[in-house]
Amino acid sequence: MTRTYISELSNLKDGDKVTLNGWVAAVKDLSKVKFVILRDRTGEIQTVAVNGKTPEETFNNITKIPHESAISITGSLKESKIAKAGYEVVIDNFEILNKAETPLPIDTTPKSNTNIDKRIDYRFLDARRPKVRAIFNIRSTMVRAITEFFDNEGFTNITTPKLTAAGVESGAEMFEVKYFNKNAFLSQSPQIYKQMMVAAGFEKVYEIGPVFRAEKSHTTRHLTEFTGLDMEMGFIKDVGDVMDVIEDLFKYTLNYIKENCKSDLELLEIEVNIPKEIPRISMKEAKDLLKKEGKTLKESDDLDSEAEELLGKLMLKQHNSEFVFVTDYPWEVRPFYHMKPEDNPKGTCSFDLIWNGVEIATGAQREHRYDILKQQADEKGINLDEMKEYSDLFKFGCPPHGGIGLGLDRMVQRLLKLNNVREAILLPRDPERLTP
Ligand code: 4AD
Ligand code: MG
Repeated sequence: MTRTYISELSNLKDGDKVTLNGWVAAVKDLSKVKFVILRDRTGEIQTVAVNGKTPEETFNNITKIPHESAISITGSLKESKIAKAGYEVVIDNFEILNKAETPLPIDTTPKSNTNIDKRIDYRFLDARRPKVRAIFNIRSTMVRAITEFFDNEGFTNITTPKLTAAGVESGAEMFEVKYFNKNAFLSQSPQIYKQMMVAAGFEKVYEIGPVFRAEKSHTTRHLTEFTGLDMEMGFIKDVGDVMDVIEDLFKYTLNYIKENCKSDLELLEIEVNIPKEIPRISMKEAKDLLKKEGKTLKESDDLDSEAEELLGKLMLKQHNSEFVFVTDYPWEVRPFYHMKPEDNPKGTCSFDLIWNGVEIATGAQREHRYDILKQQADEKGINLDEMKEYSDLFKFGCPPHGGIGLGLDRMVQRLLKLNNVREAILLPRDPERLTP
């Protein structure tokens, strides 16, 4: 008999014969009736064996199957007032496909209190929990929405090398790898390549891919390998054009998730708030606001995590917005390739996007004029001409352009209000973890 998914049972009628495949989520033995809660990728269903009706051997053995064993159950659908779904499956027989060892190394019940570290050691068991899978169903839908959005807007989806000779992100440390008789680095961002592809004539490009950062950060928002969503666009008027696209991206993506992930959002008790307009405030305005709250930062300072959190709360209170673009970051805390405004050598035409109090993206207009870029590199102690592949871009018709780098894992974390970014990535990498 062909397999029926648990979610398909609602389309069937009383008495229909079915074969279900899945995992044993729970068993209950009331001596005369025995229940097995079966779980597959689409949901959970109560199955039942009854003394005198179910074949004796099946009845005797059904509740002996250890939790999380993979089994196949054949039986028939029966309406039931007491079953949660309004129906259950009366078992004729079952087959164990792969028995689970006991005891289980982690608690896989919905209220599991196993800590995150142990859960990740056994992520394949942890992810059997519907709430964990809901996170990754939503993440998968988020990627689909983002891809759709950029494709609709005429962006080209690109794939750039992750084995590289150099990077341009100051501050973001790189992992060195042996590359035959040379040294190479794992890519710290597709920055060089996305700018290259704008200059190459694609004009508008995006990439969703791995980004590596050798930062020894032990925080709830840092990973050593994360998924970057990078975008770059040419012939922009100013950096506002980039923010406009990102604002539309979030409206589209959040709408899409709201429409397509109803049951998963309900399970996680998440309400998706679609921004009407994302407030844009300058770094100076942000620092003035923070000062009033007792947080003082210097003109050349970056926002620290405490400042971002505070700003997030203020924006929610003042603008009813989970998001804020903070613009005009000080030159001191930005990389050499960010354009400076005509009238302010200490500023940059840049922004960060903060969502529920955490930075999820950094963007900027790039300096596309070779002479000025060279000067800016000098100022940061970088010799542009030693990066020939990069510097050449600006000598043969490179249009004004700008873009952004977002962290997908952090986006999922912020959307679902997860307290640790590790909850938003299947197999996290951090300074202490290289397995599983
Ligand atoms: O702010 P970052 O370092 O910016 C860039 O990489 C620039 N090339 C962006 C640009 O186009 N101007 O990284 C971009 C985003 C961050 O805002 C954050 O969401 C995420 O990537 N990110 C991390 N996520 C998890 N773990 C880490 N260690 C991260 N570092 C950055
Ligand atoms: Mg940043």
